[in-house]
Amino acid sequence: MTNLNEIKQQILTVLITVKNQLRQNYHFEQVNTKTNRNDLVTDRDISIEKTVVRFLKEHFPQAQIVSEEGYGNHPQNLKGLVFFVDPIDGTMNFVKCHDQFASMIGVYEDAQPIFGAIVDVMQDKIYYGGPEIGAFIDQQPLKKLDDLPLNKVLITISNRLLQNDAVTYQDLVSNSSGLRIFGSAGIVFTRLLTGKEHLYVGKFKPWDLAAGRAIGKAIGIDVTPIDGAPINMLKSQLVIVGTRCATQQALDVISRVK
Ligand code: IPD
Ligand code: CA
Ligand code: CA
Repeated sequence: MTNLNEIKQQILTVLITVKNQLRQNYHFEQVNTKTNRNDLVTDRDISIEKTVVRFLKEHFPQAQIVSEEGYGNHPQNLKGLVFFVDPIDGTMNFVKCHDQFASMIGVYEDAQPIFGAIVDVMQDKIYYGGPEIGAFIDQQPLKKLDDLPLNKVLITISNRLLQNDAVTYQDLVSNSSGLRIFGSAGIVFTRLLTGKEHLYVGKFKPWDLAAGRAIGKAIGIDVTPIDGAPINMLKSQLVIVGTRCATQQALDVISRVK
């Protein structure tokens, strides 16, 4: 059986190291594009991912690793212990010298979230937790979130979704208290965890969701695929992340418009 305390200590250790390195040396040498001109990777994304993957392999040799830039194991299933690594989440913000970027690691066992941690580099804060241990910001417990209706909450939607399907999501925004956009899934999760926004809609990769999903589960945040399929942490999915009542009402709005 997995030692959750050991996982927590090791994940916090490696993410705090990454955060300190980025804060001491906010710098990159190279920027390349991946799937499109706004999908970026820098030499720092790669060097951080290599550091984290090396650390995880050394401390958890039996585990599988899914990591964004390709230095993990590319597992075909989620049996046993699986780590999901996003070395810099919000690379565009990092390149543009915006404050909002994060590093994150999600830990799953037999496909179930057990632990996650998100470090907000520039705010120097670490959010972590899981269904069994609760949610924390820098050792302080986070409160269970109020289950507010859609018309009482701020929402956030990924840029890409708004570009591709403005009509559906315009309707969603007009049924809410308003829209905020941040450019980093990790940072949005930290805002959901502290009740600033209550809903987040987008098409995300497993490493965008893994850590926040594990922490959020402890305080009333769910990740719900919009097409009604079960969540699959080995592929990209269009999902709503958020508290229950607002999520249900958002799904109703989307199905009415579509
Ligand atoms: C991206 C950011 C962005 C979200 C994209 C992600 P990356 O992650 O989180 O806010 O809208 O879906 O891919 O590429 O900067 O790690
Ligand atoms: Ca990334
Ligand atoms: Ca990401």
